[in-house]
Amino acid sequence: MTTIETKYSFPEGFWWGSAASGPQTEGASDMDGKGKNIWDHWFELEPTRFFNEVGPSKTSQFYYKYKEDIELMKQLGHNSFRLSITWSRLFPDGKGDINPKAVEFYNDVINEMILNGIEPFVNLFHFDMPFALQEQGGWVNRETVDAYEAYAKTCFELFGDRVKYWFTHNEPIVPVEGGYLYDFHYPNEVDFGKAVQVAYHSILASARAIQVYKELNQGGKIGIILNLTPSYPRSQNPADVKAAVLADAFFNRSFLDPSVKGEFPEELVQILKAEGFMPKIENDDLEVIRENTVDLLGVNYYQPRRVKAKEHLPHPDAPFMPERFFDNYVMPGRKMNPHRGWEIYEKGVYDILVNLKENYGNIECFISENGMGVEGEEKFRDENGMIQDDYRIEFIENHLKWVHKAIEEGSNVKGYHLWTFMDNWSWTNAYKNRYGFVSVNLNKDGERTIKKSGMWFKTVSEHNGF
Ligand code: NOJ
Repeated sequence: MTTIETKYSFPEGFWWGSAASGPQTEGASDMDGKGKNIWDHWFELEPTRFFNEVGPSKTSQFYYKYKEDIELMKQLGHNSFRLSITWSRLFPDGKGDINPKAVEFYNDVINEMILNGIEPFVNLFHFDMPFALQEQGGWVNRETVDAYEAYAKTCFELFGDRVKYWFTHNEPIVPVEGGYLYDFHYPNEVDFGKAVQVAYHSILASARAIQVYKELNQGGKIGIILNLTPSYPRSQNPADVKAAVLADAFFNRSFLDPSVKGEFPEELVQILKAEGFMPKIENDDLEVIRENTVDLLGVNYYQPRRVKAKEHLPHPDAPFMPERFFDNYVMPGRKMNPHRGWEIYEKGVYDILVNLKENYGNIECFISENGMGVEGEEKFRDENGMIQDDYRIEFIENHLKWVHKAIEEGSNVKGYHLWTFMDNWSWTNAYKNRYGFVSVNLNKDGERTIKKSGMWFKTVSEHNGF
């Protein structure tokens, strides 16, 4: 390695890598004993909901190409990579019999990563409820918490001798929003009461998995991955400020506080009580949640939320929604990613890290996702076949500068993972926007080519800075 001057150097041992999930990369969605999950089912039911009618079976085929992909990760200088264990691959019915082929597959992947010097970061639930459990109510049903605990325990027992970084959920607020509030995940219900129960059961499930993990004493760390979306008021007008506090309580602190502090935000509890939406809490649940907080936190950051006070009160008979208290607001003149309609606000990542430092005991954390989805990247491919994605390099660099500043000010952030390693299938958006360091040609048997950003990231990770 040549030594170069880096203006932004990161602490020794910083994690450089990327993140992905089983359902978005593995493919083989009905092969080797895998059971159906809600995505397989929903695609069969309503294919037109998916971009170009491309469903979860058409992914980058990591199931078959994992060796080649891990080799590429190594070429990109990754020292770590996040994957998830597809619940319905391990337990085709969500509980009961284990699928031996799945055990073999995840063992092979984990061993291959370790052989190549890539630390496996393993997440359990990534939006992929086994369909058999969904038919019994999914996260609305308390029995799903028991099934999840058994799945988590099995994963720790099977792979915990080698996996030392575990995560209970990825972005658990998203299935709440998508499945039970805003109609972008199966089962597409709009029901605030169920949304609260789903959120509560996900939190309880996380705490129960942490409890089991600690009892097993495997010497690793366990955390949760949350999409933290800083809420900024439109103005300093007290009504706007209050609106932003409530949006933060609903969408960030609802999971952040119980995960890190073992308690629920008081503002939220007051609202749920007043509106008659408290979830069903049983036995010693609250104690389990209080005592089993995370060791570390994954922070997914894409965009901020701009908030203003409600201008028009909803009709008193309208069903209850969090937006009863605030309006989301698009701030004119802000930098946007046109492909997703998301604001690009790099300082947001710093604000999150400062908040974790000041209000959450400076918990150990890492940036577990950050990235830029772009449509039509093929037009940036040069004559040598490389996609010249300078916009992605700029995006990452600008975020890393803020991460660096937070570190200088004492933040306990330990790494940066891009979403994602290679272009993958993104839920209902399928392949509309590409996020990878590596492009995947779906028309040529998933042929992989490294993008310019991948080569750039290699030098960043090799020099531990830029
Ligand atoms: C968050 C999720 O974890 C991932 O599944 C998704 O594809 C990316 N963000 C991009 O939207």
